Amino acid sequence: MIMEELDGGQHTHDDVVVAIDGPAGSGKSTVAQAVAARADLRHLDTGATYRALTLALLRQGVPPADADAVAAKSADLALELAPGRSGPVRVLLDGSVMGEELRSAEVSRAVSAVSAVPAVREQLVALQRAVISLGGIVAEGRDIGAVVWPQAEVKIFLTADPAERARRRARGESPEALALRDRRDSGRAASPTRVAPDALVIDSTGREVADIVEEIVALIAAARAGRDR
Ligand code: DC
Repeated sequence: MIMEELDGGQHTHDDVVVAIDGPAGSGKSTVAQAVAARADLRHLDTGATYRALTLALLRQGVPPADADAVAAKSADLALELAPGRSGPVRVLLDGSVMGEELRSAEVSRAVSAVSAVPAVREQLVALQRAVISLGGIVAEGRDIGAVVWPQAEVKIFLTADPAERARRRARGESPEALALRDRRDSGRAASPTRVAPDALVIDSTGREVADIVEEIVALIAAARAGRDR
């Protein structure tokens, strides 16, 4: 369910959708947040939707590896997205805004198995699309440009070499756990991490965040100018 805009502000159907995809540790979240702030757009972290659903299942004692139970239970969960005029789209579970609890090692361990279940993806992609359809948003994830919103005006796939990604890994995830999660995310049958054919691949290895942000902000300016013609 999508909540009414919190501030009752206007929708921005006439503004761009920016897709930023990439694996964990590619710098995707940092870049996506900064781009949204610079370009005055909303920011949807789709990974947080998979994490929130995973946390809800763990709280209910559903084993993440039991795909049937995961599919059956996930339909009943009270997961909501609350977009504002700009800035982060809040993820709510049972009416509470989710934050750092989504980053726990327990959730990180379980999220790949949960996000590989087709019924889960169907449910969350529908939720994500409802928010992205408002326009004026940076959506980050694994499959935004390829599956969720292929019509995004700006489409980026961010990469970094494995050593740098391991160095950047935040939230206490070991390099081994991160590598395992990546293999699962890119090897799964349902919508694996993949580069959309028309995405611009940006390798962030050794580059300043600010520099990458400027590159994407320039693409947004060009896309906005294109819409106005
Ligand atoms: O970006 P993240 O590490 O918070 O994402 C958590 C997990 O969610 C990731 O291991 C795979 C899944 N995910 C996905 O399958 N599709 C997305 N668009 C975003 C995340």
